[in-house]
Amino acid sequence: MIEGINMDKRPIGIFDSGIGGLTVAKEIFACLPREDIVYFGDTARVPYGTKSPQTVKKFSCSNTKFLMSQKVKIVIVACNTASATSFGKLRAEFPSIPIIGVIGPAVKLALMCTKNKKIGVIGTESTISSNAYLKEIRKFKSNVSLFGQSCPLFVPLVEEGWIDRKETLLIAKKYLTPLKRKKIDALILGCTHYPMLKSVIKKIMGKGVAVIDSARAVAEKCKKVLEEKGLFNGKKRNGWHKFFVSDNPLRFKRAGQKFLGRKIDKVAQIDIG
Ligand code: DGL
Repeated sequence: MIEGINMDKRPIGIFDSGIGGLTVAKEIFACLPREDIVYFGDTARVPYGTKSPQTVKKFSCSNTKFLMSQKVKIVIVACNTASATSFGKLRAEFPSIPIIGVIGPAVKLALMCTKNKKIGVIGTESTISSNAYLKEIRKFKSNVSLFGQSCPLFVPLVEEGWIDRKETLLIAKKYLTPLKRKKIDALILGCTHYPMLKSVIKKIMGKGVAVIDSARAVAEKCKKVLEEKGLFNGKKRNGWHKFFVSDNPLRFKRAGQKFLGRKIDKVAQIDIG
């Protein structure tokens, strides 16, 4: 890129239902260190994973409107439930801006990894019942089987920091054993929080199962879109990162630091309506 040409100084916008999307944000920070980033966590309305598609669509639209008010140049839907239920709606409502979800990149990775054509996906109740992962797989392959399992206790366990407790291992075994029995060889972590449980999940699934965390793939997709559309920031210094929530900035700060693995300086609260 020649400096001064094809530069776009507007920030990247990321939203999630709360702190989970920070697993995606962390990869975007690492992949695009020069970019300015606005992260919005909808902590007043979390969880999305137990809500109806209509409600999550409404929330996703208001979150995107907020990011647009921050003059972002691209929107990353860093929430599986929002991607599964609202991606089409967001693209239709906001045609002027590129929007990236987490499902496409995860499916691409899983299809690259599977040899026996049996893939598993775990996520929230809404994500699993949306069938969004199967619909995405069917765009590319008709001969791949997908087995879904919702794991509703994983989100609260992660938020409580119960990452390596024996209770967590027991609960994970209960959720994952049916998928193991199906002899899947790739497992998609279809929820923002699950990468935090990757080592427990790997332990249960064993060496023969590729555990797919799409965060890095989403960051790379974001980089590719910025490049293709000539939207790189082009600055020489590191970018700034701003965090907004719709409720309880202190809790977000405390828990979010664990997700991000670094300090969060400032979190602003907004009224999302
Ligand atoms: N961010 C959500 C997801 O990835 C998990 C938390 C929630 O239920 O809102 O599906």
